[in-house]
Amino acid sequence: MVTNYTEEIVIEKAQNTKITDVDFANIAFGRVFTDHMFTCDFEDGKWQIPKITPYQAMSIEPSARVFHYGQAVFEGMKAYKDADDNVFLFRPDQNFARINKSAARLAIPEFPENYFFKGLETLLNLDKNWIKSGLGNSLYIRPFVIATEPAISASPAATYRFIIICSPAKAYYNQPVRVLFARKYSRSADGGVGFVKAAGNYAAQFYPTSLAQQKGFQQIIWTDASTHKNLEEAGTMNIFFRINDKLITAPNNDRILDGVTRKSVIQLAADLNIDCEVRPVSVHEIKTAAKEGDLKEIFGAGTAAVISPVSAFGHADDVFDLPQLDNSYAMLFKEKLMHIQHNLAEDKHGWRYEVK
Ligand code: COI
Repeated sequence: MVTNYTEEIVIEKAQNTKITDVDFANIAFGRVFTDHMFTCDFEDGKWQIPKITPYQAMSIEPSARVFHYGQAVFEGMKAYKDADDNVFLFRPDQNFARINKSAARLAIPEFPENYFFKGLETLLNLDKNWIKSGLGNSLYIRPFVIATEPAISASPAATYRFIIICSPAKAYYNQPVRVLFARKYSRSADGGVGFVKAAGNYAAQFYPTSLAQQKGFQQIIWTDASTHKNLEEAGTMNIFFRINDKLITAPNNDRILDGVTRKSVIQLAADLNIDCEVRPVSVHEIKTAAKEGDLKEIFGAGTAAVISPVSAFGHADDVFDLPQLDNSYAMLFKEKLMHIQHNLAEDKHGWRYEVK
């Protein structure tokens, strides 16, 4: 149960804005942050009064458990602006539910719903000028929780900090990505934390991904940890395969992140009468389809990545280039999603959330 809290947010506004220094046309993902941040500490068994302050460095003891045991979870969300300067979030209820699911798995106390939404909306109103209108522009929002207790025994902390920072964003991948199917390393295992957004899930991918990059691939498609036969997700995004006119994506399990963009694509496919099978998909099936010319597309789906087409995949000594289609499903879903997000299309599932 997530308790609701009643205290007002304490706000300290930034004296100056940094926005004039930002080149919004050439923005690299996740490097520039807005003027304000939201923080809320968990102490004495409860979440304390939340604060919004100027974005700033924090002082945390080196013994804080997050530095030693990675007790940290996060979310990725985006805010969008329409042509009339109205601000929208996309399915924020899903992110709220997921950060608390992640928190529960990492033995972190749940965060109250009203603090999450009030905090987000107040922060977005203060930093509204950082959200640019126009398709392809967004403000990436990173809520996260870290264990702050200064103690290095390996057990859950007694104190935490919930933080929200925001960063203006364009595309995560500027070009179609080349992906390598994993044969040795794994991202997650049954009974593990792959299904939640634990910080360590991402760090564990950096080394194998750097090996893949040396071979000319940008990302790894992770396979199941026990057999490496089934294709699961790409780490920064969930993954879809198109064989002829049929879409296939792996079912959620302990090892796969329950992606908001993934589930939105599955729903949009149903709306568009595109056959989408949610079932295990094997390396063998995809290689066979590629050899026979039936594999039309692979694309990733995620908040940061939106919909990112794959240009080629590698497995063992084989590399397959994918055709470039004029009428790709990837572009169709990307356009449909972006139009809903930017208030340019009907929102029949109630996914848009207006920030007042
Ligand atoms: C997101 O898509 O929001 C993520 O958290 C992925 C991250 C690697 C940027």
